[in-house]
Amino acid sequence: MSVFKEILPEEIDNNTFELIGKDWALVTAKNGNGCNTMTASWGGLGIMWNKPVAFTFIRPQRFTYELIENEEYFTLSFYGEEYRKALQFCGTKSGRDYDKAKECNLTPVYDEKAPYFSEAKLVLVCKKLYAQDLNEESAVDKNTVLPNYNKDDYHKMYISEIVKVLKK
Ligand SMILES: Cc1cc2nc3c(=O)[nH]c(=O)nc-3n(C[C@H](O)[C@H](O)[C@H](O)COP(=O)(O)O)c2cc1C
Repeated sequence: MSVFKEILPEEIDNNTFELIGKDWALVTAKNGNGCNTMTASWGGLGIMWNKPVAFTFIRPQRFTYELIENEEYFTLSFYGEEYRKALQFCGTKSGRDYDKAKECNLTPVYDEKAPYFSEAKLVLVCKKLYAQDLNEESAVDKNTVLPNYNKDDYHKMYISEIVKVLKK
């Protein structure tokens, strides 16, 4: 039996700035019969087209980018401080070279539309609604934005409906 309880998006009582910016998230998607995950600390949660959504930004060179492009669903999941080392690993190593779940002792769960890990304290199951590459022309404050893209590797923005929230 799952120790997770389903809650509504509006019942998430964490501070979003802390949750994403400080705690960091794992972005996880199917990879064949398995999964891959990467750390993300940029993004947000909010409302778009009258739906609860997550905003996620993925650079094109990530293995996760390839996977998310091919999937309708992915998850964002959040962990306690004891997983900081695991999140560091998942944010510096590629799934092209490692089975990151195995390396970090994370236990994949496949009972939703996209995988997540049983060690999470909070899981958002996300369904892609809209995806668009950021670009140089659209940068308004170029001094803030453009130094992040010296390699021309503009993030792709995904706006995804939060279709399920699981909390421990
Ligand atoms: C704290 C932290 C936050 C990160 N946030 C993002 C992010 O929001 N978007 C992104 O594209 N990469 C981000 N990264 C980098 C990816 O997690 C990293 O490149 C990872 O190795 C990609 O793995 P993959 O090739 O298996 O997809 C972050 C890394 C760290 C350590």
